[in-house]
Amino acid sequence: MAIEIEQPSVGLSRVAVSNTHGEDSPYFEGWKAYDENPYDEVNNPSGVIQMGLAENQVSFDLLEEYLEQHSEAPTWGNGMSSFRENALFQDYHGLKAFRKAMASFMEQIRGGRAKFDPERIVLTAGATAANELLTFILADPGDALLVPTPYYPGFDRDLRWRTGVKIVPVHCNSSNNFQVTLQALEDACNEAQAKNIKVRGLLITNPSNPLGATVQRSVLEEILDFVTRKNIHLVSDEIYSGSVFSSSEFTSIAEILEARKFRQAERVHIVYSLSKDLGLPGFRVGTIYSYNDQVVTTARRMSSFSLVSSQTQNLLASMLSDTKFTKNYIKTNRERLRKRYEMIIEGLRKAGIECLKGNGGLFCWMNLSPFLENPTREGELALWNSIVEEAKLNISPGSSCHCSEPGWFRVCFANMSEQTLEVALKRIHDFMKKRN
Ligand SMILES: Cc1ncc(COP(=O)(O)O)c(C=O)c1O
Repeated sequence: MAIEIEQPSVGLSRVAVSNTHGEDSPYFEGWKAYDENPYDEVNNPSGVIQMGLAENQVSFDLLEEYLEQHSEAPTWGNGMSSFRENALFQDYHGLKAFRKAMASFMEQIRGGRAKFDPERIVLTAGATAANELLTFILADPGDALLVPTPYYPGFDRDLRWRTGVKIVPVHCNSSNNFQVTLQALEDACNEAQAKNIKVRGLLITNPSNPLGATVQRSVLEEILDFVTRKNIHLVSDEIYSGSVFSSSEFTSIAEILEARKFRQAERVHIVYSLSKDLGLPGFRVGTIYSYNDQVVTTARRMSSFSLVSSQTQNLLASMLSDTKFTKNYIKTNRERLRKRYEMIIEGLRKAGIECLKGNGGLFCWMNLSPFLENPTREGELALWNSIVEEAKLNISPGSSCHCSEPGWFRVCFANMSEQTLEVALKRIHDFMKKRN
């Protein structure tokens, strides 16, 4: 039975009542529109198609095939002793076999151009926990992290809500395809200084969510010089690194550090997870890879709050240490994502819409600025509303990613079948035709 409270009189903590989790943004509002009327090819063909979810479903068949061929992998182990071992295992260091497999998978994604030491891998419940945990370690409440815009809306929750840390946006714009510039970084630092806020680090996403484009090597070099000059940390969220269409188009911060003989490595931390590249967000497997011993030790202690289940570690240790499987998976997954990307870019182009040139990720960054009635945030949200209401598509408005230029939208393409994507493209086409 529901308990009704007329006027709450008992107080809650500041964290509990704060709204810095950001769940009132249109990013989450659009999800509600989908939840209330979800598209289904057979049962609800006029429902809302969810294009606001960066999920990867294009390679599930490969994972399922592996599990069919390796029936031993998902079991509790071989016999009772393994079951008991598994049931009791709760060491926050994680299973050594899994950390080794994870390090080797991260190397493979980078075409073998970077090395990862399993002893530096800290396991967390997804990149969400990894980013929050790192923020707890690098900054105190009231301090700030610089984050280039547009950025993943979840960062408002992950970096700020429970930590009390602030985000100072580094405003990037379309004039140089939203790449970070030194000027933008300096401007953000000046803004923080004017407000008397201490900047403790810079967090970049490479390739970027929502742009679907990698950060150029020369920009990474500049960024590393910048954080060194300012004596702050650098977090590189590389959660989509295995979803770059060609490994040669991705430079990890790890490669730059190796080339620099690990000078300044103590201020660099990499975040990774299996949510995107393997399409397993429900498994909650993330990692922090830090070159700073103290950060590794502290992160490991803190990971007690967000461990990965031993059964999940066992299953994935066996899958990821099978290099024949991982090699084929990474290659095929990249090819399929590229094909999807080309399909959506071409479909949008036919509807008269241009996108930023992307090379990875599960989404594209679509430019509807020429079609805004008012070139403002309100104009963008009005167009977004019509797309949800009339075209029945949930996409994410750029303002929910803190983009400073109105009219850009993130459109996800890997969380549905090719047929559904075709339906979505037809709806966009019809929507644009009606407006012209
Ligand atoms: C850039 C970025 N970081 C972190 C996350 C969170 O990922 P996870 O499911 O591993 O917590 C996401 C998910 O969309 C993301 O896009």
